[in-house]
Amino acid sequence: MQQLIRGRILGFHADPTDTDDNHLYLEDGAILIEGGRILAVDDYAKLARPGLPEIDHRPHLILPGFIDTHIHFPQVQVIASWGAQLLDWLNTYTFPEEARFAQQGHAPAMADAFLNLLTAHGTTTAVAFCSVHPQSADALFTAAHARNMAMVAGKVMMDRNAPPEVLDTPQQGYDDSKALIARWHGKGRQRYAITPRFAITSTPEQMEMAGQLVREHPDCHIQTHLSENRDEIDFTLSLYPQARDYLDIYESYGLLGDRILLGHSIHLEPREIARMAETGSHPVFCPTSNLFLGSGLFDKAGLRAAGITSGIATDVGGGTSYSMLQTLNEGYKILQLRGQKLTALSAFHWITRGNAKVLGMEDQIGTLAPGSMADLVVLDSRATPAMALRSDRAETLAEELFILQIMGDDRSIAQTYVAGVAMKTV
Ligand code: GUN
Ligand code: ZN
Repeated sequence: MQQLIRGRILGFHADPTDTDDNHLYLEDGAILIEGGRILAVDDYAKLARPGLPEIDHRPHLILPGFIDTHIHFPQVQVIASWGAQLLDWLNTYTFPEEARFAQQGHAPAMADAFLNLLTAHGTTTAVAFCSVHPQSADALFTAAHARNMAMVAGKVMMDRNAPPEVLDTPQQGYDDSKALIARWHGKGRQRYAITPRFAITSTPEQMEMAGQLVREHPDCHIQTHLSENRDEIDFTLSLYPQARDYLDIYESYGLLGDRILLGHSIHLEPREIARMAETGSHPVFCPTSNLFLGSGLFDKAGLRAAGITSGIATDVGGGTSYSMLQTLNEGYKILQLRGQKLTALSAFHWITRGNAKVLGMEDQIGTLAPGSMADLVVLDSRATPAMALRSDRAETLAEELFILQIMGDDRSIAQTYVAGVAMKTV
């Protein structure tokens, strides 16, 4: 069955930082969808025909759904934990909470809540760390598959420097990851990310096994953490004394390439930046987390100048909001502190097509190109009295987007479509 979704349509076909010809905006536009996919995008008058069901979202803006490239599913009850920086925060709050995912029934209940939160915030695809327990990844994939929602996820591999309840072994981590890949990678819209948590929690033997998984499954993503916090870097280098720098650890086990997502990547050495560029590896900027944990200020422009393409993400529960709008808000402020500017058009490109390109999935998500999945977000830039008052003085699309970027959150999400299906029941 075909249907028409009408509103003010905005989609990107290029990066606004690279070129002026970067987006399509239709004041009275429509998206024709069938079987969960986009068939056409055009002026409403060109696509409307008698008998075609339509949903009218005017005066709201309709964009591709947001993509969150780094989030921790088992941290839905860790978010907003007080007072610590990274290593204390992990030991005090995070590892004990992740241990609860061993309990029967906990992971499925949390998976449902997690996906509801994502779509309530306009996010239609996430790249998620699960807990060490394979049933946490099974629960997330099961819930996402039932919603026909594209997830990239993996169980964390971690075999040291954490409580025994959240540790595996090199062999168990390999076997569990391998079985999850067989069950889920490529099933419907689910994709597996090989997930050594970070160098501190993996022995060299486990990193070796992670490298073996990467060699055996070259089309899987890889996700981990890099250079988030100074104490973390010092501890990491003490555990791998032969490494030239932090990135060299991941490099020496064959993990680098355009499939890897390196969360944070803040305190980098020139050699690390050069190797990231040469290997096509992707840093992921996590603004609310980096401020909350006091980690540091990401250098977007410096990485870009080196030819590196970064993702942007919430990093809940180190991050403090599920909203990619709030993530852009804090990201804007971090870049201000570095003397860098983030325009509203670049910001909205980043959380849609930009993140899709980082994942190599831009043929499926992140744009409104015909053939793409109909994962959409409907944005209300007057969602609160304060936003409405400010919007009275806004004249351009860029101004409206910037109001959404700075003041918007889940209250601005009028609707979210996953593969053409409305997630909000009104
Ligand atoms: N480094 C290793 N694990 C984590 C985590 O769960 N959150 C953050 N922010 N950094 C990490
Ligand atoms: Zn993280």
